Amino acid sequence: MIFCFSGTGNSRHVTTLLANNLNEQIIEMRGEMLTKPTSYSCDLGNQSRVIWVFPIYSWGVPPVVAEFIKKASLTINNDTPHYMVCSCGDNIGNGHKHWRKMISKRGWTPQSTFSVQMPNTYTLMKGFDVDSKEIEQQKIAKSITRIEDIAQKIASCEIVDDVVRGNWPWTKTAIIYPYFKRYCMSPRPFHATDKCTACGKCEKTCPLNNIVITNNRPNWHDNCALCLRCYHICPTHAIAYGKATKGKGQYKSLIHNT
Ligand SMILES: Cc1cc2nc3c(=O)[nH]c(=O)nc-3n(C[C@H](O)[C@H](O)[C@H](O)COP(=O)(O)O)c2cc1C
Ligand code: SF4
Ligand code: SF4
Repeated sequence: MIFCFSGTGNSRHVTTLLANNLNEQIIEMRGEMLTKPTSYSCDLGNQSRVIWVFPIYSWGVPPVVAEFIKKASLTINNDTPHYMVCSCGDNIGNGHKHWRKMISKRGWTPQSTFSVQMPNTYTLMKGFDVDSKEIEQQKIAKSITRIEDIAQKIASCEIVDDVVRGNWPWTKTAIIYPYFKRYCMSPRPFHATDKCTACGKCEKTCPLNNIVITNNRPNWHDNCALCLRCYHICPTHAIAYGKATKGKGQYKSLIHNT
């Protein structure tokens, strides 16, 4: 079984290829699964493995995924192997250790971890933007053989941390991640500019049902994963995050697959 969370389609792309390679079923983490994880239950007693696929957020597990892992009622044999396959723009710091700790805390078995480099989606701070179209296409093309390689390692039950950690992994995950989670994940700065045509696409697409259109303008409530699907999918590039997104690009290559 593959549990997948994806904002802009990268992790969904990873999931689809893994599922095809390994003949696994997919459960998409969205809606109430994420907003009320305690009300979700699933019997996975007959599964030979569980694969968690999600994007890396600030060198850690996205808080909504972390809450789901902590609180969802999943019936799994304790010795069933769990795998993490995360997508990232560059590197994951100690994100794999963060995930291992969470899985172990539930009494489950964290077997192996993998990262796949995909196009960057984070645009909400100075200095962070999407990749050029050329790099975007190179990353997507390279990901296909990378995902095949990961599928092979999972199929042969390899025990490995096959991830790109980058520089200062401890500082990034132990110091920056909690700071980012506390101070940089508010949906409050989101707003629609005059370019908004009230098409409703952002409202329809939000995986947490966090956007409501009133008076022909989207309003953001507090259940936001900061996945940026709304920002990138907007057909008129009308969504802004304070002033941080001024002049920034959108990433659309895989988003329609979500
Ligand atoms: C809030 C946020 C934080 C991110 N932090 C990181 C990071 O720490 N390291 C990194 O390499 N990429 C980071 N990214 C980029 C995404 O992990 C990457 O683009 C991922 O493939 C997006 O997957 P998705 O399309 O399934 O949402 C971040 C993206 C977002 C939205
Ligand atoms: S997707 Fe863009 S144009 Fe459509 S309602 Fe949302 S902000 Fe407005
Ligand atoms: S409001 Fe936008 S950024 Fe927040 S969860 Fe929904 S789609 Fe993602």
